[in-house]
Amino acid sequence: MTEDSAADRLAALSKSLSDCSGCGLARARTQVVFGVGSADADLMFVGEGPGFHEDRQGEPFVGKAGKLLTELLGGIGLARSDVYIANVVKCRPPENRDPTADEIEACSPHLFEQIRIIRPRVICTLGRFATKLLADTELSMTAIHGKAKERILADVPALLFPVFHPAAALYATANRQVLEEDFSKLRLLLEKGAEALGGGEGSDEIPSA
Ligand code: URA
Repeated sequence: MTEDSAADRLAALSKSLSDCSGCGLARARTQVVFGVGSADADLMFVGEGPGFHEDRQGEPFVGKAGKLLTELLGGIGLARSDVYIANVVKCRPPENRDPTADEIEACSPHLFEQIRIIRPRVICTLGRFATKLLADTELSMTAIHGKAKERILADVPALLFPVFHPAAALYATANRQVLEEDFSKLRLLLEKGAEALGGGEGSDEIPSA
């Protein structure tokens, strides 16, 4: 008997969630925004939750912030199809409000299942919601962006790498520069592993919570 491929397993999970009513976000959504990209990706991005355009098109990061994410990826020689992109919550919070703790608790098992299937080497969290969920730290984004941390998530050993949410860079050029610098580090992390970012005191490693 042949085992299902990661792509088959992701497709089955996506199908099983297409009429999810696991939390109140189901009421106002157009559709579940499951995730997009390569099921065998070394690099996975995790954002917060779908916005207006994502809810309409059924794909994460297709609005203005998504355009910037695509540009940042291009800047390090990657296309969207080389990576996997998902969110902490898979349905749009009304008026783009923050997801609540209950919504995150209800939806995050699906994200962990995606991680279990894809087994990415590096998980880049976009902004504070994904970072708080996956990095196990109370430190601010300002303190930990661009630093790597070894984590075991859904039984998968991965390097967690938080960066600012691309939306934070849309109106502040300074944030865009920080994001570009962090994406350069991401490239190094993918090519050479955590050692490439240095170690020890004051290094590019997130301190434990
Ligand atoms: N912001 C997010 O966090 N995720 C998206 O998919 C789009 C915008």
